[in-house]
This record gives sequence, C-alpha cells and structure tokens, in this order.
Amino acid sequence: MLDRRRFIFSAAGLAGTLAIPNRLIAQLASAPANLPDPKQYSNNDDAYWLELRKQFLIPGDEIYLNNGTVGSSPAPVLRAIFDGYNTTEKMDQQDPEDYPIWGYAAWNEFRDPLAAFVGCKRDEIAMLRNATEANSYIANGVDMKAGDEVLMTDQEHPGGEQPWQLKAKRYGIVIKKVTLPKPVQNPAQVLNLFSDAIGPRTRVVFFSHITTVTGVVLPAKELCGLARSKGVLSAVDGAHVPGMMHLNVKDLGCDMYSASPHKWLQAPKGSGFLCLRDEVIDRLWNTIATEGWDEPQLRAERFQRIGSSNVPALWGLRAAIQVANQIGMDRIERRHRQMCDYILEEMIKRGAESWTSPDPSLRCAIATVNVPPIQRMDLENWLWKTHKIRIRGGEPSKLRLSTPYYLQKKEIARFLEKFDEYKKAHSES
Ligand SMILES: Cc1ncc(COP(=O)(O)O)c(C=O)c1O
Repeated sequence: MLDRRRFIFSAAGLAGTLAIPNRLIAQLASAPANLPDPKQYSNNDDAYWLELRKQFLIPGDEIYLNNGTVGSSPAPVLRAIFDGYNTTEKMDQQDPEDYPIWGYAAWNEFRDPLAAFVGCKRDEIAMLRNATEANSYIANGVDMKAGDEVLMTDQEHPGGEQPWQLKAKRYGIVIKKVTLPKPVQNPAQVLNLFSDAIGPRTRVVFFSHITTVTGVVLPAKELCGLARSKGVLSAVDGAHVPGMMHLNVKDLGCDMYSASPHKWLQAPKGSGFLCLRDEVIDRLWNTIATEGWDEPQLRAERFQRIGSSNVPALWGLRAAIQVANQIGMDRIERRHRQMCDYILEEMIKRGAESWTSPDPSLRCAIATVNVPPIQRMDLENWLWKTHKIRIRGGEPSKLRLSTPYYLQKKEIARFLEKFDEYKKAHSES
C-alpha cells in the first residue's frame, strides 16, 4: 500500500493528467493524517468529534442530516480506494492468472474483516453491492410454492419489499403485512403483531432491523427467535445497521441478513453484503450464475460470484471497517444515540408529533417526526437552497433526521434555528 506522502504526490500528479478536481486532492491532503487520539475523547468528547469531522469532504457550511439515505466516505476510505486503483490498475500482478476482478474469487482479505465486524464466519458472508441486491438474492433464492406466504411490515423499503412483489407476481406467493404503530411503544407490541400474523402458510418472516420509514429499531433477536420457534425462516434487512450500532448476526440468530455499509459505515457506494446462517446456505438458489454457482463447498462465497466487479471499492470497505474499529463502535453508537435524543427532544419541544419510539432500545440515529401543516418538500427545498441544510422526509409532513457521529451539536442547533424561522414565517402567512 502507498504511504500517505507518496499517495498525495502521485494523486496530485494524477489530478493534472486525469482532471481529478484539485479541490478533492487538496481536501484529501489537508485532512489530518491520523484519526484523533481516543485520549482526546476522554478529555472532551465534543473536541474529539470536531477533529474527526475534518476527515469528511462535506463542506464546513453544509449540514448533512440525511446519512440515512447514504453516508459520506471519510478521507481514509477515499485514500484506500485510490490506493486500490493505483495498485491494481498497473496490471503487474505477480501471477499472470491474477486480475483485479472481484466476482470470481474468495477475496478473503476483504471478507475476513467484514465477517469479524458483523459477527459471522467467513463462509457465511458474501460481499455484494447493496441491500437491494442481497434482498433480491433472498427472495429469488428461497423455494416457495404458490400460496406460500412471506410476512413483513408495512414499513419496508422498496429494495426490501419489491423482490417479494416480483416473486408474488411471477409465482403466486402471498405477501402479508403487519402494520407497525407510529411510534412503536415497546418490543412486546411488535412481537405480538408478528406472532398473531404467522400462520400455517408462512414460510418467511422478512423485516427491516431499522426501518426506512421511521428509523425504529425492531427487536430483531426476539423476532428471529419467534420465527425459529414456528419453523419459519427469518430474513432481516439490516441496510442501516452496520456502522450505526453494534451488530452481531450470530447473536441475532437470523437465517439471512442483508445490509448496505455505504450508509452508516461510510463505506464506498456499492458496498453491500449478505450473511447466511450455515444451515441455510444450501437452501438458497443463486440468482446470478457463473462458475461456482453449483459448488456447495464454496458456502456463501457462491453468492458473491457475480462476474467482473469493482475491487477498489473493497479496499474502501476494508478501510471503513478500520475507521469504525479505531473510533470504536461503543463511542460511535453512544454518540449516535446522544445526538438523536437531542434532536428528537428539541423537535418535540417545538410541537412535533414523534414517530420515534419512546423506548430508547428501539431508536438509535434516526429521529422521525410529523410536523403538519408544514409541507416537507417545501421545507426541504428551502433548507437546502437557502441554508445548505440537507434533510429528508415523506409526504406530506414527515421529517426524517439522521444524526451521524460526524454531525456537530452546533449544526443541529442551526437546523433547529432555521426550522423555527420557517415555521414562524409560515404560521404568519
Ligand atoms: C431498510 C432499507 N432497505 C434497503 C434499502 C436500499 O438500500 P440500497 O439502495 O443500498 O440497496 C434502504 C435504503 O434506504 C433501506 O432503508
């Protein structure tokens, strides 16, 4: 791997010839070479997070409250991607049969840290491009007959629900849904809804660990246990989970788990994975087939055999895991929870209806509130176009506020100030 000085030198050279924007090179070069010392965290955690903020390309005057849609890769991740290109594109691999094409091999140097980070064995994980792809592999790969049922919530993302809709249209399986209250009050409420809805034709229980609609953290371990006790497969869409909070798929006891580390792990776009409990691997058909699809001894690796693909993204994914481990998931999760609680409390003080669970175990770094009569799209446009504050919501009046660890308290305070300004202006008109 290149050391940092060499990288900057070679990248600056590249910028001239390949038109990589000089601003990007300058920003990467000016980001501190090391992450802040954890000792700084014990002395003054706000100073620690402020120092860490310098690793991100998001301009100082922009406030990014939508990490839930997609994260922002910090400098160490971007450098690793460039290092990956610089190393592999020379086509000077020692072995003449070795090429940089993930999609035909085990790539254990990337798979091992990922497996360790999410708590499963190497043989139980396939690196894919995103949760949508992993969810499609699940829905497409499970044998089901017409009339067999999948049970899900009414808060699934299209990238979770639509693979099952496709299967329903093509093969006549049936989709049943439980309606989650807004907000969910406690884990028992969710368990009872699922328990009542599982019937003799239910084959799969599919749910988001953290939903896209309200950010509620569903009691995944208990739901997977419930499914197991009824002889039903559990498939968890964990798109938001890695990097937002501790994850140990083994401990959850799920049969299948999908995720998109390009969200909260701040990994490169196009990083995803599918975890399969060893006992379930042989029950899943491949969706994409190339050499290896019919070799059960490959275990989960057979699902990452997708043909030529982007290896430097894996360099970035590995670096993103290193960043999270270096900061520490304890610190990251604590910060996520503190910032989320802060923004939620402040929004409630302002009269917002909370769709975020009052149970702290059922929320983490996404707060969702309903603020009628405010029209969320109008507010969203105004905040972005006039104040460089980026939020997201849903029609007509839902606001979904993501609080990644790199967000500063003063940035939240500025969002709140602008929200008040907008609300005042619109209540007077
Ligand atoms: C719960 C959930 N599942 C799946 C997805 C789709 O993610 P991707 O586009 O990375 O596949 C999202 C995206 O927001 C999501 O929130």
